[in-house]
Amino acid sequence: MLLKGKNVVITGSGRGIGKAIAVACAKEGANVGLTSRTLGELNSTKKEIEELGSRVKIVVKPADITKFEEVEKAFKEFNNELGLLNGVIANAGYSRMWTTHEFINEKFAEILNINVLGVFYTFKAAYPCMKKDDKKDKARFIITGSEAYPNAPSKLTAYVATKYAVVGMQKAMATEYKRENINFSMVLPTQVDTSLLRGKKAGDGSKPEHVLNPWDLNDYYIFLLTENANRINNGLIFSYDFQEVKKVLTEAPSGKKENWEVFKDYFKERAPKSYDNVKDYGKLVDFIISRS
Ligand SMILES: NC(=O)c1ccc[n+]([C@@H]2O[C@H](COP(=O)([O-])OP(=O)(O)OC[C@H]3O[C@@H](n4cnc5c(N)ncnc54)[C@H](OP(=O)(O)O)[C@@H]3O)[C@@H](O)[C@H]2O)c1
Repeated sequence: MLLKGKNVVITGSGRGIGKAIAVACAKEGANVGLTSRTLGELNSTKKEIEELGSRVKIVVKPADITKFEEVEKAFKEFNNELGLLNGVIANAGYSRMWTTHEFINEKFAEILNINVLGVFYTFKAAYPCMKKDDKKDKARFIITGSEAYPNAPSKLTAYVATKYAVVGMQKAMATEYKRENINFSMVLPTQVDTSLLRGKKAGDGSKPEHVLNPWDLNDYYIFLLTENANRINNGLIFSYDFQEVKKVLTEAPSGKKENWEVFKDYFKERAPKSYDNVKDYGKLVDFIISRS
C-alpha cells in the first residue's frame, strides 16, 4: 500500500473525480477526510470505502467551500480526528455554459467563488494542519485544474478564467512555500464522465469514447501523493498527455516499454507534442508502467 498511514483530505469528494480519488487513496491505505456540501453523497463515498474492507479512518465534514468559517471548522475537525495532514486535494468545482454577453452575473460570480476563492480558502484553512517537518516526504497541496487551461473553450469564459487563475495561484504558492516542505501540483483533466460535464447522464454507460471515467485519473493523484513525487513542485500533469503515454505503451514492442529510459525516444517519435509535457515526469511514467 503506497499511502499507508497518511492523512489526505479531498474537497468535492461526494461524487465524480473527488469520490474516485478518495476511494483510491483509501485503497492505498490513507485515512481520508471527505468534504462537500451534500452529506448524503459524502456518506455514499464513505460507504463505498467501508465496503472495501479497509481499516482506514474516514472523517466526513460537510462545508461550503465558498464560506471560510465552514472550511476552517471542517479542517480543524479533520486535524483533530486524523492528525496532521500529508495531502490536501482542492478538487471541488463548478461550471455553467453561456455565451459571455449572456452569462448570468450571479452564476459568473459563483463559478469564480467556488473554483478560485474555494482553492484559496482550502489552502488557508489547511495550512496550519499540514505536516511541514519532513524534507524527505513533503506535504502535498494538489489542485484539480482543467484542460480549459490553456485551451480556453468558448462559452465557458467564467470556468476558463478560474482554471487559468489556479495555475497562477499554484505558481505563486510553490515559490512562497518552497522552504516549508509543502509541494504544489495540479492535475489538468480533459473531459470526464461526471455530473459537471454530463449532468444526470453521468455514469449512465453511454459516455462518448474520448470522455474519461473519473477513476482514469487516480494514478496521477496517487503518484503525486507518494514519496516518488517529493521533488515535484509547481507540477502540471495534463491528463491528455499521460493518456497518450498509456495508449503508446499498449502499442510499444518489448524492449521499449519497460521503463521511461527505454520508452522515451519511442514515445517522442509517436507523440511529439505530448512528449514536451511528459518529459519532466519520467517517474510518473515509471509509476504508470508499474501499475499496468
Ligand atoms: N468533469 C470534467 O469534465 C472535468 C474536466 C476537467 C476538470 N474538472 C474539474 O474536476 C473537479 C471535480 O469536478 P467533477 O467533474 O468531479 O464534478 P462533480 O461530479 O460535479 O463534483 C464536484 C464536486 O464539487 C463539490 N462542490 C461544488 N460546489 C461546492 C461548494 N460550493 N462547496 C463545497 N463543495 C462543492 C460538489 O459537491 P456539492 O455540490 O455537494 O457541494 C461535488 O462533490 C472540478 O474542479 C472540475 O473543474 C472536471
